[in-house]
Amino acid sequence: MQNNETLELLKKHDLLKIINDELDIYLEIPHVAYVEVKKPDSKAILFTNVVDRKNGKKFDTPILMNVFCSQKAVELLIGDGDKIAARIQELLHMKPPAGFMDKISMLGTLFNLKSVFPKKLSKKGECQEIIKLGLDAKLSELPILTTWEQDGGPFITMGQVYTKSLDGKMSNVGMYRLQVYDDHTLGMHWQIHKDSNHFFHEYKKAGVKMPVSIGIGGDPMYIWCGQAPLPIGVFELLLYGFVKGKNAQLVKSITNDIYIPRDVDFVIEGFVDVQNLRIEGPFGDHTGYYTLKEEYPFMNVTAITQKKEPLFAATVVGKPPLEDKYMGHATERIFLPLLKTTAPDLIDYYMPENGVFHNFILAKIKTLYPGHAQQTMHAFWGVGQMSFVKHAIFVGEDAPSLTEHDAVTRYILNRIDLEELFISRGVVDALDHSSNKFAVGGKLGIDCTGEEITESGITLLSDEELLREMQKISSSVKDLKQYYTDTKNPICLISVEKNRSQKELFAELKPLLEHIKILIIVDEKDNYLDNPYMLIWRVVNNIDATRDIFFDANSVCVDATTKSELDGFMREWPDDVTCTQSVLESLKERKIIDIDDAFERKFLL
Ligand SMILES: Cc1cc2nc3c(=O)[nH]c(=O)nc-3n(C[C@H](O)[C@H](O)[C@H](O)COP(=O)(O)O)c2cc1C
Repeated sequence: MQNNETLELLKKHDLLKIINDELDIYLEIPHVAYVEVKKPDSKAILFTNVVDRKNGKKFDTPILMNVFCSQKAVELLIGDGDKIAARIQELLHMKPPAGFMDKISMLGTLFNLKSVFPKKLSKKGECQEIIKLGLDAKLSELPILTTWEQDGGPFITMGQVYTKSLDGKMSNVGMYRLQVYDDHTLGMHWQIHKDSNHFFHEYKKAGVKMPVSIGIGGDPMYIWCGQAPLPIGVFELLLYGFVKGKNAQLVKSITNDIYIPRDVDFVIEGFVDVQNLRIEGPFGDHTGYYTLKEEYPFMNVTAITQKKEPLFAATVVGKPPLEDKYMGHATERIFLPLLKTTAPDLIDYYMPENGVFHNFILAKIKTLYPGHAQQTMHAFWGVGQMSFVKHAIFVGEDAPSLTEHDAVTRYILNRIDLEELFISRGVVDALDHSSNKFAVGGKLGIDCTGEEITESGITLLSDEELLREMQKISSSVKDLKQYYTDTKNPICLISVEKNRSQKELFAELKPLLEHIKILIIVDEKDNYLDNPYMLIWRVVNNIDATRDIFFDANSVCVDATTKSELDGFMREWPDDVTCTQSVLESLKERKIIDIDDAFERKFLL
């Protein structure tokens, strides 16, 4: 799909905003996109008047952001996730044909598969209409954004990172952010578990510099393929061919032998140094927290090629909801049949965006025997990127649809048996900030596939009364709100001014536990107890189940406060990602954004 087709398609469905006001690549443009994508009717934005005020520069290249601004946009650009999933399911269940008609209908499916494999062309692509080599290839000529105030520099946020294994047998495209260090050096933020990182170690061991080419733009399907969690060895552009019904067409990079799609807007080519690493970050990430400085590999740029009239594609990450909500939803649907090959009794699953995907999953299964839910949890925790999931709640086949938030919450709360909470430990996402150790941490599994529990075993007090009683015990408790008091496991949320381990507070509150089933503690600062969407985001981000869940006879406490040495946590705890207020004010004054205090509070801007 060419840029004009993408823009036309979005425009036709009223999904494109064009902003011609002069806006800066430093904070302004990302802030506008961030605010936009949180709106219920969000649109993609084309920024046509792009400047770098600090360096007195004006760019000719417009920036396209939020291209996956809604479910509708994803359907237009990728397809209907459920329909694609059904096609995958059909393939996975293909049996030898029983008769002539069967053979004929199967031929159709198999013939379509011919379009799956990417085609290597021997000519140049549109992405190579302009070629700049060596010192003429300058990253500062691209409108690369700095999204957040504490970011370590400008980052390419929608880069398709093309790599191949040392023996050339495997190809990969991954969506990783890329930090600009200077005109010719680019950081490669492929995390420890990711495919390109595995390739990198092959090159490092062999002492051979690693060829990498970064594609930016082109058909939005490419970047969607880049984030799809396919296993190592499966080139994600196969998915492009499968979904689109036509092969991805690739051309060879000019200065290395990596193949890239012919129609991307920009290609940054180079080689990754396998001897040295550089400090990468901080970067305000899609967890809603900054990822801290860490060492990562970097690329020495050898060429930048581009179309004559390119667009520069970028995204903004931070607190949910964001563009990755819509990208992730399509991924979730399409991967259901593949997950079922590991967990055949899985009926459905759902990763709400405020659980930032890996922090929280809801799954529905058909249970056939005791321990079936736990068995499937183990399967999830052992399979690819699904193993990053920190908190899993499993419900039975009689549960409401997983996206009916209120109904499914009630179903769950009426079935939680505190004695059956399953706490384990394993791999967590490299971005997880709450585990005591990098990339290894607690897992919580809650099996709600059984019958409703008979009684809660507590007597309820009103919010005011309970808060008053708590404050008599500890003045650190600042506010309280109870949720779902009509279920067997009411949730009591409190905010505190923390100055000690919350285990001590929980122990002190023992006399009140006859009134509390599930106690969740958050910091007073930056949390609103009447904002469950952002509270879920906060809680599943901040806890490590092996450290932060405490039990009493009939109650459980979940400590979702910021951790420090008070809790035996010795790593650095990152800040939340927040907008720069002066930038928001200036955008409001110039009438480029239109938001009020309620919006800012709702999304903890
Ligand atoms: C907006 C966005 C930004 C991402 N940034 C990174 C990143 O910087 N590093 C990373 O390792 N994964 C990042 N990911 C996740 C990867 O794209 C995803 O895990 C993908 O499956 C990796 O591909 P691979 O398995 O081929 O390595 C990002 C995903 C999205 C949607």
